[in-house]
Amino acid sequence: MKIIIDTPEKLYKLAAENYVSLLSEKPRAVLGFATGSSPVGIYDELSALYREGKISFEEAVTFNLDEYVGLDTDDSQSYRYFMFKNLFDRIDIPASSVNFPSYSDTDPDRTAQYDKNIANAGGIDLQLLGIGVNGHIGFNEPGTAFASVTHKVKLTDSTRKANSRFFAGIDDVPEYAVSMGIKTVMNAKKIILIACGAIKAEAIAKAVKGEVTPDMPASVLQLHPDVTLYLDRDAASLL
Ligand code: F6R
Repeated sequence: MKIIIDTPEKLYKLAAENYVSLLSEKPRAVLGFATGSSPVGIYDELSALYREGKISFEEAVTFNLDEYVGLDTDDSQSYRYFMFKNLFDRIDIPASSVNFPSYSDTDPDRTAQYDKNIANAGGIDLQLLGIGVNGHIGFNEPGTAFASVTHKVKLTDSTRKANSRFFAGIDDVPEYAVSMGIKTVMNAKKIILIACGAIKAEAIAKAVKGEVTPDMPASVLQLHPDVTLYLDRDAASLL
């Protein structure tokens, strides 16, 4: 596991370089994206690189980590909406090349089909992650099996509370989401994780040097051959 510690502004630039080198070598790369506040600076950087003509996503394919269940696709709280606002509307990716996991009561196979769609696209070349204060990655809360593939998740009270900052109140936060599983994430050829702020320090320390256990989902990353963590000094303070 490689660890880079710098200011958030520098981290965004360094993390964005992964996309410049990957897409120049492999324009049809398969990219796994995340939502939340952590990746926004990287998305700003990628948008700037696109405006400057230094990167193109025209042939890329994307798979997002997770999505709420029960929100309309154009709901301003949906992760699809977030991704178009923060990245996809600002770069040249065709809307037909972006993918989000979904769940349907009437089509129960649809959720696990997401892993097959990823495999059919050639597998994820570069997966971007954030980390929850409890060590979750995607919506894989503590206790999620390392063998999990894309699945429906009942969100914990702590995650609904943390995410209520984006909603009018906790009652508006959906109770369920769909998330890539731990195995889906671990199948990516390369993984980058960004974390800033003291609030993430404990989760980062446990993920990097703690026991590898489903109780700390991000600890599984110790088992992946190509992971780079982009941390500011506060997030790295307990390492
Ligand atoms: C988002 C996601 C989550 C977040 C995590 C950190 O797609 O899968 O695991 O990465 O909750 O969120 P922020 O960055 O808002 O602290």
